[in-house]
Amino acid sequence: MLSRRGLLTGFAAAIATTSSFAQQAENLPLRRSIGSMAADDPDLLAFRSALAAMKALPATDPSSWSKQADIHLNFCPHKNWYFLPWHRAYLTAFERICRWQSGKKDFALPYWDWTIDTQIPARFSAGSPSDNILNHNRPGLSATESLPSDMVGSEVINRIMQSPDYESFASTRPRGQDSTDARWQRRAGSENELEFNPHDGVHDSLAGDMGQVSLAPRDPIFWLHHCNIDRLWATWNAGGHANSTDVNWLNFVFSNQFFNPDGSDWNVAILDLLSTSTLGYRYELEVGRPVLNASLLRNFAAFRALPASDLAQISSTLEVRSVPGGGSVQIVAVDNRNTANRARPLAIPVPLGRDINDVIRVPPARPSGSMTHFLVGASQRIIANIQGMMPPRDKKTRIRVFLNRDNLSPLIPVSDPHYVTSFSFFEGNDHGHGHSDEGTNVSVDLTTTLAQIARQQRLLGDKIVVQLMPNSASSDLADSEIRPTRVELIII
Ligand code: C2O
Repeated sequence: MLSRRGLLTGFAAAIATTSSFAQQAENLPLRRSIGSMAADDPDLLAFRSALAAMKALPATDPSSWSKQADIHLNFCPHKNWYFLPWHRAYLTAFERICRWQSGKKDFALPYWDWTIDTQIPARFSAGSPSDNILNHNRPGLSATESLPSDMVGSEVINRIMQSPDYESFASTRPRGQDSTDARWQRRAGSENELEFNPHDGVHDSLAGDMGQVSLAPRDPIFWLHHCNIDRLWATWNAGGHANSTDVNWLNFVFSNQFFNPDGSDWNVAILDLLSTSTLGYRYELEVGRPVLNASLLRNFAAFRALPASDLAQISSTLEVRSVPGGGSVQIVAVDNRNTANRARPLAIPVPLGRDINDVIRVPPARPSGSMTHFLVGASQRIIANIQGMMPPRDKKTRIRVFLNRDNLSPLIPVSDPHYVTSFSFFEGNDHGHGHSDEGTNVSVDLTTTLAQIARQQRLLGDKIVVQLMPNSASSDLADSEIRPTRVELIII
């Protein structure tokens, strides 16, 4: 423990030894919404001057704009459980450099709360890239267009905020990970909704540099987008949800990736990234205490920790697996060879081997319609892990997921009770950083939709049909083609 802490340089150590912690927390720089900032807000002015200074540095300087962006190209983990802590560290190191370069010692990054401000913030779209340092080429979303509510709306965020465990909130560990070896940093797990929907969706909607892993941080809006993702993580924690306690997560160290403002390396372990005040910033957050289902959480933890060999052979009929701690999960997997495109949905029937009502125990949703707190305290979650997808050629394609919908067609709206969610792909020319042959996996929580269907009609039949409906503006059908190799259904 001591030697790992020894890796921390003076900058972080100075913060950790400041006298009164509580008092310090109140005085810490507050990250605020860009939507609430006047044009001459001191943090906005400092951000502009820090960017100008960084862009003026030689490209070899660790604090230069291009060196900072290249950190993302070379190291960013996506689609696994390192996504959130790595980007938190990236933002922290960048924020410290902004303080140094702007001379504003209490500078805090603004965040873009796209749930409220659904258009590109005016300060970032005003003028043109040549006369406004915050402007950038964003061919996907004009200054007057809005992000769709099925990507950033409050219903989506509410659902995300009810994720039971860290890996359902923040994307999962790479299957089979058995150490903190650096090679695991970029191996694919399964993306969950925070990442596959608003995170990936906003990247792809703006397009241009933002649409590519290799270039995204060259657009200044990148930092505000990720600040909001980071804020949602802090919000989920403040709401009473716990992070993973697995040693392969907590003890993972990001080495030789980030820089201190003086150009030295800042190496940091995940367990030192869990408190924003230790890192020198805060958000205004509401503290809450949800009524969590303890046995559900125990089963989630046990399921996450199952050895890869236990999951290598999943049968095509639903089987009950006991997990350590006395609980059990039910699991079934089916392979797929068919393709969907924007004119032709794909249906993957997952057989349950008995009546769906004998398997699913979710209560019907309340007739009032609001699903806001429906999931809190639920004793069962039904998850579809849709695996092995190569991104469609049209990078703005969003895949709509439906469940047991008869006559599914491109005309069925996202307001349909059988609609589950939508996912986007955030890739680069460097597709999935060297593990592109594995494809992308997404874990979709079906619980709310099953409850919605049960409200309208009894759940019928002996299978769950997972349906994918690509949504794309391209008229060439091949541009929106998508083909998962397999769907696992996991009932916890
Ligand atoms: Cu590493 Cu939103 O990107």
